[in-house]
Amino acid sequence: MTRTVLVTGANRGIGFETAKGFAAHGCKVLMGVRDESDGEAARKDITGNDIHVVEIDLTNADTITECIVRAEAVYGNIDILINNAGVMVESSFEELEAADFEKSLKVHVEGPLQLCQLLLPGMLERNFGRIVNVSSGWGAFTEGMEGPPAYAISKAALNALTMNLSNIIEANQNVKINAMCPGWVHTRMGGKDAPRSPEKGAETALWLGMLDEDGPTGGFFRDKKKINW
Ligand SMILES: NC(=O)c1ccc[n+]([C@@H]2O[C@H](COP(=O)([O-])OP(=O)(O)OC[C@H]3O[C@@H](n4cnc5c(N)ncnc54)[C@H](OP(=O)(O)O)[C@@H]3O)[C@@H](O)[C@H]2O)c1
Repeated sequence: MTRTVLVTGANRGIGFETAKGFAAHGCKVLMGVRDESDGEAARKDITGNDIHVVEIDLTNADTITECIVRAEAVYGNIDILINNAGVMVESSFEELEAADFEKSLKVHVEGPLQLCQLLLPGMLERNFGRIVNVSSGWGAFTEGMEGPPAYAISKAALNALTMNLSNIIEANQNVKINAMCPGWVHTRMGGKDAPRSPEKGAETALWLGMLDEDGPTGGFFRDKKKINW
């Protein structure tokens, strides 16, 4: 059965490689992008006939709802959601501006929450769904929350969202939600000194998105291994 996956932030970096990976596995891929022309340019670099660009800006709740309503009307039910889009606000605690903190929360927490609210009920009804929240070790209490405050706090909240939401999914339902850290990846966000390729960064997201029914849920992963929150 062909599964339909929505990847946010799919025009570059880890999101692009994740979209490419799902296409290689025969999925119908919806590339969630802020800028349609960026998305169309990226789509040309992915092989497959069932790849589509959909506009979504995670800081704008209206575009999130519009995107999902239109995408499901045109392409059918979304089975797999990869909440990948991210922003790195580098400001220190002293310099952090309210607007940048708010943007981080919108992109990393409120947007993903809204997408879950829009898509999870259908997944539960159809008894199939996979949600993957691309988080970070900088949002893990056990790893010291060392990143810049807006980033670390919002990723910690994304981890909390993952665990909280997993509680409402009953054990006998074939719907799974997990969070993951891709490691330090060579992208615009990760910078040129990062040791990992975007392909490597996408591996765990792909694995979690295609978990079998007996796969884990409510967990946090890096390199396909469970890590502590
Ligand atoms: N790279 C790393 O070392 C690393 C480490 C740990 C976790 N992560 C996480 O991995 C994910 C992907 O990161 P990356 O390294 O691939 O970053 P990236 O290359 O900077 O890509 C970020 C993506 O997010 C999109 N995005 C940003 N703001 C958005 C918004 N308001 N609405 C919709 N999309 C938006 C960007 O779109 P535009 O092109 O339009 O800006 C872009 O497609 C992020 O969640 C990040 O926090 C990365």
